[in-house]
Amino acid sequence: MDNFIIVLYIVAFAMFIYGLMGLTGPKTAVRGNQIAAVGMAIAVIATLLSVLHTQNWILIAAGLLAGVLLGIPPARHTKMTAMPQLVALFNGVGGGTVALIAWAEFLDTSGFSNFKHGEEPTVHIIVGSLFAAVIGSISFWGSLVAYGKLQEILPGSPITLGRAQQPVNALLLIGAAVSAVVIGMGASGEGVSPWWIVAVLVLAGVLGLMVVLPIGGADMPVVISLLNALTGLSAAAAGLALNNQAMIVAGMIVGASGTILTNLMAKAMNRSIPAIVAGGFGGTGVAAADHTGEHKSAKATNAADAAIQMAYANQVIVVPGYGMAVAQAQHAVKEMATLLEANGVEVKYAIHPVAGRMPGHMNVLLAEAEVSYDALREMDDINGEFSRTDVVLVIGANDVTNPAARTDPSSPIHGMPILNVDQAKSVIVLKRSMNSGFAGIDNPLFYADHTSMLFGDAKKSVGAVTEELKVLS
Ligand code: TAP
Repeated sequence: MDNFIIVLYIVAFAMFIYGLMGLTGPKTAVRGNQIAAVGMAIAVIATLLSVLHTQNWILIAAGLLAGVLLGIPPARHTKMTAMPQLVALFNGVGGGTVALIAWAEFLDTSGFSNFKHGEEPTVHIIVGSLFAAVIGSISFWGSLVAYGKLQEILPGSPITLGRAQQPVNALLLIGAAVSAVVIGMGASGEGVSPWWIVAVLVLAGVLGLMVVLPIGGADMPVVISLLNALTGLSAAAAGLALNNQAMIVAGMIVGASGTILTNLMAKAMNRSIPAIVAGGFGGTGVAAADHTGEHKSAKATNAADAAIQMAYANQVIVVPGYGMAVAQAQHAVKEMATLLEANGVEVKYAIHPVAGRMPGHMNVLLAEAEVSYDALREMDDINGEFSRTDVVLVIGANDVTNPAARTDPSSPIHGMPILNVDQAKSVIVLKRSMNSGFAGIDNPLFYADHTSMLFGDAKKSVGAVTEELKVLS
């Protein structure tokens, strides 16, 4: 039976990795996800087989049932724009589970002094369990705050203790570490009072709250990815302590991929991870003031003019952004593009890696509207094409088109790679006002001579342009 369980685990790991490879492209992503899910089901079966001798089947069945009943409805019904908070919640539950496992192991083994009832506690068991307790607890409480901010239960703006923030965080970390060391030292003797593990969990939990509360709502996707990586590492640590290969491998996969994703997101936003964790950026959504003192004016246009420009273009590039997600304009965009294509206009979509508020946000929305994957172009592939494009239609995108990132060293987003929309012959920007985007800064693109603004909700504006195109065709 033991060998059979190991074989099942190896099959599950292979499926996790194969599934993950599928997630690297939109065409294979759904299948990749399904393969990884089947792998996880096999890992669960293998784990259940390994505890066949247990008396606690009712408890295990109740746990599985509760997980299924609580997990499936939100996963099925959550809107695409609310996915980041769902991911935060699921991730937090993972971290919380790891922390509870560490707590249960502590109680079951008299403070790790009597591991597996008679076995000598080894360093990797003690360190693994305590690491899992600290990081799992940080991840659980941090993820709850991230969820609260994204769901607007908590204010999205940074909540800080001001100057006291860093000293308080340091004290909490030192407190959790000291409590863990006390447990570790007691483990080679008679064990220690159960209150020490409670101290570890509580101090780490408060630290999780304190670290995430000062971070602005809009930085949350990066924070969630970071917390996700931490949850993975804590699960791997718990796996070491429990000698469970599935937890070690799955935890390391989550830890490694979460770390890579966090880095990619931070790089695409030209922000450092320490700067994001230090907090205070974004999240307020307040309009940017123009500090230059220059008088700048943007040119407004209407749906009829926009339709005429596009109808006579050879190529139109659509640049979707967060506003398209807010307006849920993707189906209207697809309808407009179909009409243009029927009139011989080539339509492409330029996708910036951090357009929207989560990785792949635009791809998912456009795929939902059945836009062909072949029409989606990544930033590096399409940037050379803007200069020979007649019309660029920017739909609710702002920061990812801001030329100040290229030209203004004093801009907070200077150095962030952007879509070179400003190089096109004509640019039409769909947004509701002159308000700034996530970074809270002005966008010189809007004031350029070849740019015109079509003000209004993106879905309504695209719908109006489509109606005008119908008249023209
Ligand atoms: P933003 O720069 O945030 O701009 C979105 C624009 O959409 C706003 O200027 C807003 O202007 C407009 N808008 C909002 N609702 C609208 C509606 N109903 N109809 C029409 N327009 C609407 O978005 P972006 O260009 O996609 O850039 C993404 C930003 O988020 C970047 O700064 C990025 O660093 C950051 N970020 C991204 C991620 C990921 S992973 N994607 C994670 C964290 C942060 P009005 O209010 O005037 O309409």
